[in-house]
Amino acid sequence: MDYNQIVTLVWRAWQTVSSDITSLDVKHKNPYDFVTAVDIGISNFLKEGLRKLYPDVGFVTEEEEEHTLSDRAFILDPIDGTTNLVYDYRASSISLAYAEGGEVTFGVVYNPFLGDMFLGIRGKGSFLYDASNGIDALLSCGVENYCRNRLAVSQRPMKLSLIEFGASSSHKDMAEETFARGMRVFGACLDLRRICSTALAICYIAAGRLDGYFEKIIKPWDFAAACLILKEAGGHSSDWEGNPLPLDRPGTIICANAVILDELKKLM
Ligand code: IPD
Ligand code: CA
Repeated sequence: MDYNQIVTLVWRAWQTVSSDITSLDVKHKNPYDFVTAVDIGISNFLKEGLRKLYPDVGFVTEEEEEHTLSDRAFILDPIDGTTNLVYDYRASSISLAYAEGGEVTFGVVYNPFLGDMFLGIRGKGSFLYDASNGIDALLSCGVENYCRNRLAVSQRPMKLSLIEFGASSSHKDMAEETFARGMRVFGACLDLRRICSTALAICYIAAGRLDGYFEKIIKPWDFAAACLILKEAGGHSSDWEGNPLPLDRPGTIICANAVILDELKKLM
């Protein structure tokens, strides 16, 4: 797998699509969930580019109906944080994972608004590259050899923790239990955050900017790349029962540093 080529495609996807589109063309998937021309454009751009490079590798994207995971597959969320994009909140990311035999081995999460490019390679670590002036330095070093700005999770205890509260906002029917859970965590930690890009929130735990995250219903493309980045930074992710996160269906999620993991799980 040529990570330089893959990262170049991700970077070019944003540059090309964001400069080509003339309107966001916002559509509702449901009353609380949007899709835009940027989501569709990036999904198509990366599908085409990755197919040319790796015709034998499957491709799962949020923005298509078919979500069957093959043994070797790219898993894409073209924009994680679409509501943020629509409201110009400037906290959205492209999240791309490569998985083999149900295990993610490479992940990139790119927030074009800050230039944060989070990278993870299984067994080699995870890193933060500042892509605000392009990715030439990264490519000339080689993604596989890049070893600056290695990520490491925090060691903060619960009472000093900042925790991302994923409210599964399309599921207003669950609001009572969701906010009861949020209140329990709020009572135990320093404060809650609502970044509302799961991929970014998990990468923020990897970078020690946050300490934990939980959500009741989350899809694999939201976490696949970021959870590898987190694992390589010494962090943990699982479902609420402690099982590994499935890559082929939605489920519960908890991510945290090792210090607060068990306590946060109990609060679910
Ligand atoms: C959403 C974001 C959000 C999470 C939602 C996701 P989208 O993804 O990751 O943080 O709370 O559950 O659906 O729709 O912006 O790709
Ligand atoms: Ca999305």
